[in-house]
Amino acid sequence: MEKFEPEIVAFCCHYCAYTAADMAGSKRISYPSNVKIIRVPCTGKVDAIHLMKALEKGADGVYVAGCLEGDCHFKNGNIRALARVDRVKKVLTELGWEPERVAMVNMSAGMGEKFARTAQEFTETIKKLGPSPGKLTGNGNKVAS
Ligand code: FES
Repeated sequence: MEKFEPEIVAFCCHYCAYTAADMAGSKRISYPSNVKIIRVPCTGKVDAIHLMKALEKGADGVYVAGCLEGDCHFKNGNIRALARVDRVKKVLTELGWEPERVAMVNMSAGMGEKFARTAQEFTETIKKLGPSPGKLTGNGNKVAS
């Protein structure tokens, strides 16, 4: 049987997680290439439809990485993002999908190690879950790389 390599989309805030990813790179801390980063100006701009679309288009897991609580440059974007992630988790549960396919994490720009560890841990979680149910039913399309 072919080894399952999940496709993961990470919506990363420009001010923290995206910079943390950069820091991981400059410190030569590796993280799985399964994770495709989408830079956003603030996680408050990530709507539930973006998370659902990523899953619909073939991602096996999606996470949102925002600033630490109290550090959002737009006041409470990361709090709004967490609420949206929770809402999508509920929708996935209603659909019979595993809610663990969606997650929210917080970090600062200096947390390159945390960025890499999060990418590693989330990839492992999704590997254990297996391919997205959308792929198994043929409803998922390939994520563009
Ligand atoms: Fe980073 Fe809002 S500016 S989450």
